[in-house]
Amino acid sequence: MRTNKLLYSIRWQFAVIYLVLVGIVFGVVSVAISSLVEDYLVDQRIKSVMNVTNNTAVQMASYLSDYDAGSMYNIAVKNGNDSGGRFLVLNRSGIVVVDSFSDMNGVKLSDREVNDILYGQNSSSYGFHLINDENGGFWAVYCTSSIIHNGEIIGAVLYSSSIQDVVDATAMLQARTLTIFLFACGIIIVISLFTTNQITKPIKKLTDVAIKISNGDLSQRANIKGKGEVAELAQTFDMMCGRIQNMDQQRSEFVSDASHELKTPLASMKILVESMLYQDNVPEEVYKEFLGDINGEIDRMNSLITDLLLLSKMDSDIVTINLERVRISSIIRKCITALEPIAKERNIRIKTDMSDNFELECDPLKLRQAINNLIENAIKYTGDGGHVTVTTKHHAGEGAIRVEDDGIGMSEEHLGHIFERFYRVDKARSRETGGTGLGLHIVRRIALMHGGRVDVESEEGKGSVFTLVLPLVQDTEDIE
Ligand SMILES: Nc1ncnc2c1ncn2[C@@H]1O[C@H](COP(=O)(O)OP(=O)(O)OP(=O)(O)O)[C@@H](O)[C@H]1O
Ligand SMILES: [Mg+2]
Repeated sequence: MRTNKLLYSIRWQFAVIYLVLVGIVFGVVSVAISSLVEDYLVDQRIKSVMNVTNNTAVQMASYLSDYDAGSMYNIAVKNGNDSGGRFLVLNRSGIVVVDSFSDMNGVKLSDREVNDILYGQNSSSYGFHLINDENGGFWAVYCTSSIIHNGEIIGAVLYSSSIQDVVDATAMLQARTLTIFLFACGIIIVISLFTTNQITKPIKKLTDVAIKISNGDLSQRANIKGKGEVAELAQTFDMMCGRIQNMDQQRSEFVSDASHELKTPLASMKILVESMLYQDNVPEEVYKEFLGDINGEIDRMNSLITDLLLLSKMDSDIVTINLERVRISSIIRKCITALEPIAKERNIRIKTDMSDNFELECDPLKLRQAINNLIENAIKYTGDGGHVTVTTKHHAGEGAIRVEDDGIGMSEEHLGHIFERFYRVDKARSRETGGTGLGLHIVRRIALMHGGRVDVESEEGKGSVFTLVLPLVQDTEDIE
């Protein structure tokens, strides 16, 4: 829910950012264009009214010096009609002597444009004025030009004309620009919402899947195809989910297998205890036999629990194996010394051929455990009086420890499974021998941990050969 709100706000943030950026660019461009257009139009108008005013001033010069008001009026009216404006002729004191509209005669003017001409240095001037009328007013341009006669300023011509058309044209341009701007903003919002939606859609899907997975449904996948960072993230996420699901399945299988294996010796013990408990006058030998069986089951449980603990320790120690440089012969000797008494009990001979000795970089305790499991199996699954041979050999950067027996062997169908947890070829026999089916699984885990492998060859009734192959230290040499 929170993520949805976040994505929603991201979408709007993108839209606003786009909008602000485009707004700034568009605003600057449109202000620049409209002021350029306005400047151009005003400039053109000023040039034309200046022209008309200057010409009129030239025409007025001789008439003003002669005080010929009639001629000046005629020129003012004609030029005013031709150019669509109003002409005033002022004397040297700024008093209107002629008005083409005939209503300001005798009025003294003191507008800036007039003073510029009569009292300043300029021969012409102009300015803008807002004229109020019954329609609310309009903008006009005042243009003045000095009337010179015999090199002396004798008066001025003031020309006024409306420039409301230019103001209106500029205002219309601005209004149109604003309309286009608002329209563009609308399109930008729609496009940015659409594009951000395209970007956030897979993230939303990913979030939904993550929520479902965190609620326990490990089968969920995002299934986002394509390229790009988000698609790659989703594909990696799916891979991770697959692995988690796999691990979870393995964990629950392991728990159920382990519980099952632990229940079996407990059930046997319960039967043995109950038969002693509920039977009267049980002979002492029977008691002893039953207690011996119970003791055997306790040993079985003990070894199962030891193996389970070892496996779980290997899970957590996966990155912390304590590597040491050791000679393979020393590890094998330690294993044989520990297992020889069991072999002797059953008259089994353990032979060794370690003439091809080599050094390994390994975790000695773990490697010893692996070799021990292989030799123990060889003894366990070989008949009385049989033979077990342990050979070492190294070749092409690999060292091999071969454990061979002439025992019961196994058929081909089992070879692919014996490294699985709790897998035993003959469960009844394993019960007799106290096997739990974890030994070879542990061997394989240790081999993989060292970057090696374990191979098996076996023939039913003839015997088996297990070979533990591990990578050698680079500079290893034959050691006597
Ligand atoms: N050398 C061998 N000869 C014949 N069968 C073997 C040999 N080694 C292993 N097996 C078969 O493979 C199975 C799995 O062996 P593994 O060592 O994993 O379990 P286990 O010996 O039954 O019990 P434990 O966990 O105590 O070692 C055994 O039950 C046995 O059937
Ligand atoms: Mg075993």
